[in-house]
Amino acid sequence: MPAFAVIGAQWGDEGKGKVIDFLAGNARIVARYSGGNNAGHTVINDAGTFAFHLVPSGVCWPHTQNIIGNGVVVDPDVLLTEIGDLKRAGLNLKGLAISERAHIVMPYHVQLDILEEKRRGAGALGTTGRGIGPAYIDKVARTGFRMGELLNPEEMAVRLPEIVKHKNEILTKIYGAPPIDAGAILSKVQTWAPRLAPYIKQVEDLVEEALSKGENVILEGAQGALLDIDHGTYPYVTSSSPTVGGALTGSGLSPRAFGGVTGVFKAYCTRVGGGPFPTELTGEVGEHIRTKAKEFGATTGRPRRTGWFDAVAGRYSARVNGFDTIVVTRLDILDGIDPIKVCVAYALDGHRIDRFPLEGGSLERCVPIYEKLESWTKSTYGVTREKDLPAAALAYVRRIEELVGVPVSMISTGPRRHETLVLRDIFGK
Ligand code: IMO
Ligand code: MG
Repeated sequence: MPAFAVIGAQWGDEGKGKVIDFLAGNARIVARYSGGNNAGHTVINDAGTFAFHLVPSGVCWPHTQNIIGNGVVVDPDVLLTEIGDLKRAGLNLKGLAISERAHIVMPYHVQLDILEEKRRGAGALGTTGRGIGPAYIDKVARTGFRMGELLNPEEMAVRLPEIVKHKNEILTKIYGAPPIDAGAILSKVQTWAPRLAPYIKQVEDLVEEALSKGENVILEGAQGALLDIDHGTYPYVTSSSPTVGGALTGSGLSPRAFGGVTGVFKAYCTRVGGGPFPTELTGEVGEHIRTKAKEFGATTGRPRRTGWFDAVAGRYSARVNGFDTIVVTRLDILDGIDPIKVCVAYALDGHRIDRFPLEGGSLERCVPIYEKLESWTKSTYGVTREKDLPAAALAYVRRIEELVGVPVSMISTGPRRHETLVLRDIFGK
């Protein structure tokens, strides 16, 4: 009864959507377990080109049921727009199921996210401004609303005024912003409730049933390990747990249900938003990667910071998540770049370190120690067989494998579903 987690191994945007769309061909269920519409998962296949924000990336397969798990925070307006767009594109959303226990991103969460960022000034985190942090704050503070409450909007109407009153004190007294109107939010709730009610379910039963039949379940990660609230580069992180622990709590599954954990790495690194990024390339090569790879946020359109592959961070990510295989995406972007470098260690205060430093402020002081690898000129774009890869490109992937210490199961050589090279079967271990 295997569940397989597919987890972002860097700072997000590793190509999880493409990888999950490919793997979902062999899965009964794809369940998102964390984050909200701060995610942007791009999927390109025969059905079209999509940027999913809340709907899981298995939705293009007719036999795959897609679930939004309890660990996700859901902005109902965004989800309804997404559902509408996908239906218009010809996808069948009937099987979509949302956990009763997923929290709701309310309009005031979005407002507070933006105001908090403004207040941070130069110390801004560079959040996506989608209300994600404030929604998770309310979840932990036990003042959130959950999707299941949309099934009983009258009960929500009882609790809402008190919470809005509290939010208004913050909005008006701390930020000097105009107050919000509980009535306006209630009428939103009333429009959400009938439209979303058909999707709100006890999703745990659906997953259990699939697992008991021996069917594959993919747990879809959002963001990346280095953005994890506990294990990431705090405070420049998101407010949820993209790592494997989040796959458990965010889906309600037992560790015994797990058949494997796969980490998705880009062949280089990117980061969007603030925070330390030791291998960042600020010159021509970084710009070349950004332009060629169209490294602009799928959610916010912001240019992404680009850099060399960081094997120190990669090893750390593999350790925190217990990856048993890794996927390397966007290999084709490195075609023709000469020289290619990989960070194998850091120099911290004059000493060489091989492990990712966890002490606050120390990553900022780390200087990457690079190894130069042979480059290749022949295109790897769309290659699907190992023997068609240039020898240097394969050697690059093998070196990443060695440095991270986890076998590579797949290489993505283009954004479309079929532009994938399988080295070993993730499900068949
Ligand atoms: P996917 O699923 C890349 C980043 C933001 C910011 C930080 C906190 O597409 O990989 P938040 O809005 O979450 O409070 O912002 O986290 N971030 C992402 N970066 N990909 C994502 O998701 C991200 N989701 C959040 O840029 O630095
Ligand atoms: Mg993204």
